[in-house]
Amino acid sequence: MSNLKRIAVLTSGGDAPGMNACIRAILLTAAACNIEVIGFKHGFNGLLEQEYQTLHPQHVDNIIQRGGTILKSARCPALEQADGPARAAASLKELNIDALIVIGGDGSFRGTMAISKHYDGQLIGVPGTIDNDVDGTDHTIGFATAIDTALDAIDKIRDTADAFERIFLVELMGRHSGYISLAAGIAGGAEQIICPEFGPLSPDNLRAIIKPIQHAQLLKGKSSYLIVVAEHSYPGGATALAEALTKAIGIECRACILGHIQRGGSPVGADRILATKLGAYAVEQLLQGATLMMAGEVNGETCLYPLEKTGDGTKQIDPFLVRWQQQIGSY
Ligand code: F6P
Repeated sequence: MSNLKRIAVLTSGGDAPGMNACIRAILLTAAACNIEVIGFKHGFNGLLEQEYQTLHPQHVDNIIQRGGTILKSARCPALEQADGPARAAASLKELNIDALIVIGGDGSFRGTMAISKHYDGQLIGVPGTIDNDVDGTDHTIGFATAIDTALDAIDKIRDTADAFERIFLVELMGRHSGYISLAAGIAGGAEQIICPEFGPLSPDNLRAIIKPIQHAQLLKGKSSYLIVVAEHSYPGGATALAEALTKAIGIECRACILGHIQRGGSPVGADRILATKLGAYAVEQLLQGATLMMAGEVNGETCLYPLEKTGDGTKQIDPFLVRWQQQIGSY
């Protein structure tokens, strides 16, 4: 059993809807156990620069429904410098922090692991990224909201695509994974989904995409056709791919890049609940002595997963949906 007096929390990397709900759960759980919480600002930068604020319950009033993060987020190149992790650890010691909770993705957890080499307090991660590309949890905080945001855009694009009987390519985020694209593409009834997990796509092997388009046109004649493209799936992205397709099939294709819209907005209920559960669980597990672990949820059960394995890439996009999508791709 750990004797925690003072813990810290920070949000790092790409912000995700639900991060505020998680900060709230951490603060409320800690307050109920008489543990003081400080929040570092701007991710690990705030830890290195000792930019922080002591959090009280009133700071988390009315934030459960807000996107973004009240602590601000950032990437932190300074942590990657040779002396970065030791400086971060020194800062934690100087501020008498017994444990640090990092809400972020696997890159943020790599940074946390580097700090652990110089720090003997407890370190725990909570998965917060729209990309869902973190091992050890079925879903990350923000993923469910990002799907709905993408879906809303896809439905609107479908209306105009349908009216003009056009081929549209919609590019979605995901860093180097296709979780958002597969989920939003399936839910939006996309005719094709392209993501990095399906293997490299280049201007020289467009046949696999063109064939189903031509087949659909033979069957249905001119009609709307929607291709969801995960970012980083094609050199130059959806715009370059739309140009290449237009040239190859002689039909004008349009591209729409959704971009950072997917990171914003009020978290959906599923994200608020996941964030609350994992934030509270992280504090409870710290009290039990956990360290170098990520608080995740698998099959509806909270669980701990080694922080150093969260970026291994063992989690896979849903193989059933992949197979089904590829089967129906020509219809
Ligand atoms: O990791 C979240 C994410 O939004 C990715 O989907 C995307 O590739 C990246 O961050 C964008 O990073 P930035 O906001 O620095 O452009």
